[in-house]
Amino acid sequence: MIRFVSQAIKNYHATGAIAPSSRFLAREMVASIPKGDNRRVLEVGCGTGAFTKAILKKLQEGDEFHIVEMNDAFCEDVEKNLLGPFRSENPDVSVTLHHALIEDAPIEGVFDAIICGLPFNNFPLPLVESIFGSMFTLLKEGGELSYFEYLGMRSLKYVFGTPTLRKATEERTADINARMREHQGSEERVWCNLPPSRVVRLRK
Ligand SMILES: C[S@@+](CC[C@H](N)C(=O)[O-])C[C@H]1O[C@@H](n2cnc3c(N)ncnc32)[C@H](O)[C@@H]1O
Repeated sequence: MIRFVSQAIKNYHATGAIAPSSRFLAREMVASIPKGDNRRVLEVGCGTGAFTKAILKKLQEGDEFHIVEMNDAFCEDVEKNLLGPFRSENPDVSVTLHHALIEDAPIEGVFDAIICGLPFNNFPLPLVESIFGSMFTLLKEGGELSYFEYLGMRSLKYVFGTPTLRKATEERTADINARMREHQGSEERVWCNLPPSRVVRLRK
């Protein structure tokens, strides 16, 4: 928690959160991982590993898990506290942490599920569109991508923002809604999280 908050203060734009996600939000996010054998799962933006822990619990022999995280301190923590111990106890599950931006990560093949923790509302729209484009390229046909956003943040920006911020928020909402339509989007609200959030699931 202390590590997360100190990194969030130093890198607010990329971290985009005030606290790690709750286990309730994590449970909803990982519901996108299908049942089956030899699954490939990708997590983008693991932070201190709130979703990583829930993903690791779902993995079984033959599965392959890739994680992409840009922040040095978060990579160090997740490797030491979660991935190292998991690998020792589960040698038949392949787990790889890529210390990189998702835009540049050396990842190949397609995934059954993508669990994305990126703070899209902090990113400029062209970057949001380019990251979603890359993630859909990495998603298997029929696979599911889940991401989350804090509830009410866009409405607050719209109501209290300057005319420029209002216009930008309208464009962001239109972009989100278009993606929901194109990818059979659905959403689930999670109240037990700081702040309450919505999980969005998109299909390819
Ligand atoms: C909102 S935090 C989520 C952390 C964690 N998943 C959680 O829910 O508690 C976003 C994370 O995404 C990482 N991140 C931001 N932009 C990224 C990018 N372009 N590529 C990879 N990781 C990124 C940040 O360093 C941060 O750890």
